[in-house]
Amino acid sequence: MRADSTKRIVAALNERQGQPRSAARAMPGEFYTSEAWLEWEKSELFRREWIAIGHEGEIPSVGDYYTTELVGEPLLVVRTNEGVQVHSNVCRHRGSLVARDRGHAVRFTCPYHAWTYGLDGALAAAPLMNGTSLDKRTCRLPSIACTLWHGYIFVNLSGDAAPLLPRLSGIESVVANYQDASRRFLYGADEVWATNWKCLAENFMEGYHLSPLHAKTLHAVTPTHLCEKLTPSDDYTGYRANFAPSCPERGPYPPTLTDLERRSDAFYWIFPGFVIGICPHFTLYMCLRPTDVGHVGIRWGVTGSAQLTPDDPVVTDYVALCAEFSAEDRQELEVLWRGLHSALYEPGPLAPDAFEGTIEDMIQYVARRWAQTAKRDPHDRT
Ligand code: FES
Ligand SMILES: [Fe+2]
Repeated sequence: MRADSTKRIVAALNERQGQPRSAARAMPGEFYTSEAWLEWEKSELFRREWIAIGHEGEIPSVGDYYTTELVGEPLLVVRTNEGVQVHSNVCRHRGSLVARDRGHAVRFTCPYHAWTYGLDGALAAAPLMNGTSLDKRTCRLPSIACTLWHGYIFVNLSGDAAPLLPRLSGIESVVANYQDASRRFLYGADEVWATNWKCLAENFMEGYHLSPLHAKTLHAVTPTHLCEKLTPSDDYTGYRANFAPSCPERGPYPPTLTDLERRSDAFYWIFPGFVIGICPHFTLYMCLRPTDVGHVGIRWGVTGSAQLTPDDPVVTDYVALCAEFSAEDRQELEVLWRGLHSALYEPGPLAPDAFEGTIEDMIQYVARRWAQTAKRDPHDRT
C-alpha cells in the first residue's frame, strides 16, 4: 500500500514533465495523505533544506529564547551576544528537554538532574559527575545551522544545504522597495491546523480562491481576476495580488514604493515551508512544519514599520483582519483534507498561471527533489 501510493505520486510527477503549463493538473490525493510520502518529505525537504522557524523580533534581548520542534527535533532558539543561535534542546545527559516554552534566561538548567548550559549551548555545570566519563570541556548542546533572511530565522538540520541568501536574490530585487528587512516584529502566534502542510502553503500562495472564499474579507481589496504571476526560481515561487481600483491605499507605507507597489501585495513561497505576503503597510508570514500528514504546525506573524507598536490600532486592526481571513482558510482547508481521502477524487486541471501557477511551480520543485533523491540513492523508493 505504501509503495503503491509512492508509485502513483511519482507517476503523477513524471507525467507532467514536458507538458505545457495549460495542461497542469492537481496532484492525486495521496500526495497530501500518504504517510510514506510525508516521511520522504521530512527527510528530504525538511531535514535537508533551510526551514524558517520564526522571526528574530521574538527574541529581541540577549537571553531571550523560545523552543520549537522541527520534524521531531526539539530546538532551542536563543539570542546570545553573538546573535541568534539555535541548539538542539535535548539534554546531553539522558535526553530530556532542557528548556521549555519561552522566556528569558542567563543559562539553561535541565529540570531533571540540573545539568546546566550557557546561552551558547556549552555545558557549564553537571552536579556530582566527578569520576565519570563526562568531559565537561567538550560537552555541549549540538548547534543547528542557522541563517537570517529579513529577520526570519532559517535552520538547516542536515547542516549541508547550499547557502540560502544567494538563492533569494531574485526576490530581493522585486521587494527591495517594501523594506521588509527593516520591518519590526509586531505580532506572533503558534497554531496547529488539521490539514496537510502543502494544502496550507498552496492556499496561501494561490490567488484563485481570493474572490470566492474571501468574498467578505479580501475580495474587495485583492480580487482574483487581478492576480499575476511573479518570476519563479528553483527555490521559490510568487505572485502579485493587485488592488481593486476602488480600494484605497493601505498605509503607512515606505516612501520608496512605486505606484504599482503601493497598490499590490507580493506573495512568495520559499520552498518548502515558508510563505510570506509583503504588503505596502505590513508583512504577513507563516513558518510551516508538518507534524503528521493531517496536521501542520504554524508559527505566523506580522511585521511593519519600525515606528509602530503592537498595540497601535492600525496594527491590531490588521492582525484582526488576518485572523478573520485565516479562519476562512482554516475551515476550508480542514474540509479539503477530508475530500482528498476520497477514492473517487480525480485531480482536476489547475487554473491559469496567474491564479494557480505557483502550485505547479511547487510540484516541479518536489519533482526535482525526488529526482535528486533517486540519483543519490537509487534503491530508496520510500
Ligand atoms: S536528562 Fe537532563 S540532567 Fe538528566
Ligand atoms: Fe486565503
